[in-house]
Amino acid sequence: MKSRSFIRSSFISSPNIKVPKNCCCSSITCKRFSSSNQHSRNSRANPLTLDRHSVYNRYEEVVKYARDEPDKFWAQMAREKVTWHKPFSVVNESDFKKDGRVRWFGDGQLNVSENCLDRHDRDSVALIWEKDEPRQHQHVTYGELLDLTCQVAHTLLQLGVSKGDRVVIYLPTCPIAIATMLACARIGAIHCVVFAGFSASALAQRINDAGAKLVVTADRSPRGGKMIELKKIVDEAVKMSGCVEKVLVWQRLGKKDLKGIDVDLEKEVGNQSKEMEAPSMNAEDPLFMLYTSGSTGKPKGLVHTSGGYLAYVAWTHEMVFNWTKGDVFACVADIGWITGHSYLAYGALANGITTVLFESTPLYPDPGRYWEMVERLGVNQLYAAPTAIRSLLKKGDSYPHQYDLSSLRTLGSVGEPINTEAWLWYNEHVGHNRCTVVDTWWQTETGGIMISPRPSAPEAEIIPTMAMRPLPGVEVVLIDPLTKEELPKGVATDGDMCITRPWPSMARTIWKDHNRYVDTYLTKEHGYYLTGDEAHQTEENYYRITGRMDDVINISGHRLGTSEVEDAIDQHPQVSESAVVSIPHSIKGEAIVAFVTLKDNCSIEETQLETEINAVIKKEIASFAQPENIHFVSNLPRTRSGKIMRRILKKVITTGASEDLGDISTLADPSAVQTVVDTVNKKKKNDLHK
Ligand code: PRX
Repeated sequence: MKSRSFIRSSFISSPNIKVPKNCCCSSITCKRFSSSNQHSRNSRANPLTLDRHSVYNRYEEVVKYARDEPDKFWAQMAREKVTWHKPFSVVNESDFKKDGRVRWFGDGQLNVSENCLDRHDRDSVALIWEKDEPRQHQHVTYGELLDLTCQVAHTLLQLGVSKGDRVVIYLPTCPIAIATMLACARIGAIHCVVFAGFSASALAQRINDAGAKLVVTADRSPRGGKMIELKKIVDEAVKMSGCVEKVLVWQRLGKKDLKGIDVDLEKEVGNQSKEMEAPSMNAEDPLFMLYTSGSTGKPKGLVHTSGGYLAYVAWTHEMVFNWTKGDVFACVADIGWITGHSYLAYGALANGITTVLFESTPLYPDPGRYWEMVERLGVNQLYAAPTAIRSLLKKGDSYPHQYDLSSLRTLGSVGEPINTEAWLWYNEHVGHNRCTVVDTWWQTETGGIMISPRPSAPEAEIIPTMAMRPLPGVEVVLIDPLTKEELPKGVATDGDMCITRPWPSMARTIWKDHNRYVDTYLTKEHGYYLTGDEAHQTEENYYRITGRMDDVINISGHRLGTSEVEDAIDQHPQVSESAVVSIPHSIKGEAIVAFVTLKDNCSIEETQLETEINAVIKKEIASFAQPENIHFVSNLPRTRSGKIMRRILKKVITTGASEDLGDISTLADPSAVQTVVDTVNKKKKNDLHK
């Protein structure tokens, strides 16, 4: 069976925007950009395309176009990046103010997996699987990945999965995980990847909320040399959920007998045809959901849809990373997070380049792991988290210096603020001061990169630790946290960061809870998207993201809500109540400190209790959610209306003092503060003597 032929869509014509034929910038030698060079002046006579050469050279023009004619701009972007089965005739039907509806390219049709596979050269390498075992990698071509994806897609259909069904993927970063995501996309099932470090309870919670009928997993998986018993965790989770009909198991490390609802993945997949026509999906059909933490309640399942998401991640992947065909792109995030979805998988594959699947950890078998991999695979773009960079810089410069890193051209950072020391080290010792460092700001909710030094600034102007300017089409404003007034542009100021207009890759809703989506993300005053982040704006309108404005904690780039951790702690039978705050941490960015009050008759020793509480957190969430410190206090500071004043706890833990606590007029019992101060200081003293 042949895959269906693509209908090539035409470009929009307008007085300014002509049908692009040959952009003068299509020359592969044009890699650098400068707003004032000869090339730029020449290109002004030519039609404005949105490929990176054109955007780099005509940045201001592109920004103006996107601002003045957003529908035309986004339509052109979507037509250039995506192959549509049926071209769309409507562009943006979003309405932040009325009902929080977000809808892009609504009557267009496409197949996401076809865009990521069928349209590329079968023989070029799609994936390089960098296995956990050191120095072991495996190539998968686009042809092989397409075959595997079709086989998995047939398997899913045979197991009763149909369009709109949810499939939970609990796998390490590996080719079968990517093929399963793309197989879901091929048949219109909604994948929900759960990071394979989450516990059985956390997995069960996500399976149940999503109402998944199928879970795809592996028997076991090595990570940093340690074995994770994935199948055991899935078995436990399935027992806690009422909806799973089948578990598809990839025997990564040997054959084990499967029973009950288990299905052997390799056996099943091996029997299937390698061909499957790609059916047309609507642009707004859900592609995947991904759970992330907020400041209150349970993790929310953010829903991303097909057309706008794919177009935006493909476009931003090109704009920010500036790859050339044949490059090796290494995003070392896990596929359980949005970075793994948008850039490791969809963005890179839609663009037909080679993407690395990094299954291991930065310190295994030693702190040279990334650098040895860069040399062996010839990595051109590395996209990593500041936590990893900080942990590697602590190990000294000798590790990166042992390897040939000359293939690198772009160094990306994502997930949390990058501090100056880490930025400079990354630039100097990894990039040898000749790579472009891109600190990219975005979120699970935004789907793709929103603020980044490239393409916004000439490379010479990139300021360390600044995400610089929003991408064309992304309109950012800061809001005064007290007055809720919009802060003026062109002045140095700080505020809550909002995005004023919808963009194609934003999450459409929270699974089964659209009201929560509207309440959480859309501001009442202006009808803007509220990011939850605070930012600093310079006079040039450059942005530095300074942290969260809510109770979300970012530990090593993993997002956690304080209430999630508190809920877990409260499950210990001796705990009466708990409050969790974050403190700065030199490697993880932030760390958790917990304050716990115990039930009256509790007779267990504090060290034992600490161990038990940590075990509960590991069981309920994951080990990365365990606190740095647990303080047992007799009372928690509260307002007269009963709210715990976490702000005071945070101040005490960082300063150790009971003075300068800000406004404490609403405090119900001021003596509670002294109790906390005494407990914290006593513990600090004990720790010093240990
Ligand atoms: O606080 C911001 C921080 O990570 C949050 C989003 O987390 P998540 O949805 O897990 O997605 C992470 C990967 C995109 C943001 O609200 N964050 C992300 N990137 C940056 C950042 N903080 C500072 N600088 C960044 N570059």
